[in-house]
Amino acid sequence: MKKAVKVKALNFSTSWSYAPAPEAADHFQLKERYDLFINGKFSAPATGKYFDTINPATEKKIASVAEAGAADVDKAVRAARQAYEKTWSKMPAAERGKYLYRIARILQERARELAVMESMDGGKPIRESRDIDVPLAAAHFFYYAGWADKLDYAFPGRRAQPLGVAGQIIPWNFPLLMAAWKIAPALACGNTVVLKPAESTPLTALRLAEILQEAELPPGVVNILTGAGATGAALVNHPGVDKIAFTGSTEVGKMIQKALAATDKKYTLELGGKAANIIFEDAAIDQAVEGIINGIFFNQGHVCCAGSRLFVQEGVAKEVLRKLKDRISTLIVGDPLDKNTDVGAINSKEQLGKIKALVNAGIREGGECWQPACSLPSRGYWFRPTVFTQVAQSHRIVQEEIFGPVLTVQSFRTPEEAVEKANNTPYGLSGGIWTDKGSKIFKISGKIRAGVLWANTYNKFDPTSPFGGYKESGMGREGGLHGLLPYVKLS
Ligand code: NAI
Ligand code: MG
Repeated sequence: MKKAVKVKALNFSTSWSYAPAPEAADHFQLKERYDLFINGKFSAPATGKYFDTINPATEKKIASVAEAGAADVDKAVRAARQAYEKTWSKMPAAERGKYLYRIARILQERARELAVMESMDGGKPIRESRDIDVPLAAAHFFYYAGWADKLDYAFPGRRAQPLGVAGQIIPWNFPLLMAAWKIAPALACGNTVVLKPAESTPLTALRLAEILQEAELPPGVVNILTGAGATGAALVNHPGVDKIAFTGSTEVGKMIQKALAATDKKYTLELGGKAANIIFEDAAIDQAVEGIINGIFFNQGHVCCAGSRLFVQEGVAKEVLRKLKDRISTLIVGDPLDKNTDVGAINSKEQLGKIKALVNAGIREGGECWQPACSLPSRGYWFRPTVFTQVAQSHRIVQEEIFGPVLTVQSFRTPEEAVEKANNTPYGLSGGIWTDKGSKIFKISGKIRAGVLWANTYNKFDPTSPFGGYKESGMGREGGLHGLLPYVKLS
């Protein structure tokens, strides 16, 4: 008994440290320069311009990447149109499915290098890219491969036809996974694709292009254009595109919605979030604390569904806060390629600046800011896991999406109060409920206005399950059977 108390009093992070366990990065070759992937081939951009992608953990350049301009977008959209008309929409659905299975299997074969590349380019811990991003990317291709020849069963009594060319714009928080998440259902339904990865994390999408070549996917079925916002805007505005799928900031999402308002293009928008995690007094507290940590510090909080607001019922508030801080003090922040790392690098200098600005606003507004005493590497973009208490509903830190490892903690007395506080946000993407009572889960989850709710767990993803938001978190659903709908016309 005495011994247990002593262990509890220790600060684990200072009581021992792990020996470095870096994942090897010498089992694959990165190119110095990457071109655009159009019509099955890599070609130089008409702009002649290239930009650098860096490793946010070291601030070192990894490679030069082509910047696509309007002429390149036009070339890619034409290639996608031709492939749609001549090949892909004509192919028997079971044959389309075979290509998707093949892509899924090659993703699995190349899992190790894809994981390392993802962590180098974006800063996320290798444990995540290895165990979550890459396996889930393959799982999305496997799952939608299965649907390709079963669309009649997905929409019984109706005929599902493809839309044509899909323009897809993805963010930097789950680069390969977002590419798979968007490409797989589009192809399964018979559409062709022009995909634009985010400018800070283009490498795994470009590696995916090589995998598509290896899978002998017909030229033009998927085209991958690198570039920043202007490239994305050119894709959105191209008249040859039939559908836009966007994941990113609410700000850009609104701009896209405006641009498309006067057109007949279909679109889905998956935008920001400010998810609430609610812990009731009857919850398994240790399990809840672990889930809260996973919910907000996973991928440095670079997650649209991150559980960034915690509401704890008053009777357990002190205990939860103490346990949270104890656990956070054990998190290892540092080298994304180290297998022991829990919290990696912030994706970019801009994102780090945004996190710092919001945290400073939180302090100015009177919030109490707590951080563990962990050391940070001297180069690269880093932010300590942060907990805010003494915050009010009106504070910016409680209202605005931070997209960083920052958690606000507030207490509540009654379930009604928890629901009201949880819903007091312009967003509605996700949320979490922690309680021992199944009836409470059903009662509360029906009242939370969010697209995805987890009970006694958090951040669990599966290709069979739909994902998407209410209010400013966007429109449409991706994943599962629902994820086919944005890529078909039904007659
Ligand atoms: P962003 O919305 O600017 O970037 C997302 C993608 O959109 C990138 O590929 C980007 O190149 C592209 N893009 C930018 N401007 C565009 C335009 N005018 N037309 C078409 N495409 C355009 O997001 P950013 O600036 O990287 O991050 C800002 C904030 O957005 C983050 O702090 C976070 O709060 C939120 N965010 C949310 C994400 C989510 O998963 N829902 C993902 C990334 C960011
Ligand atoms: Mg990068």
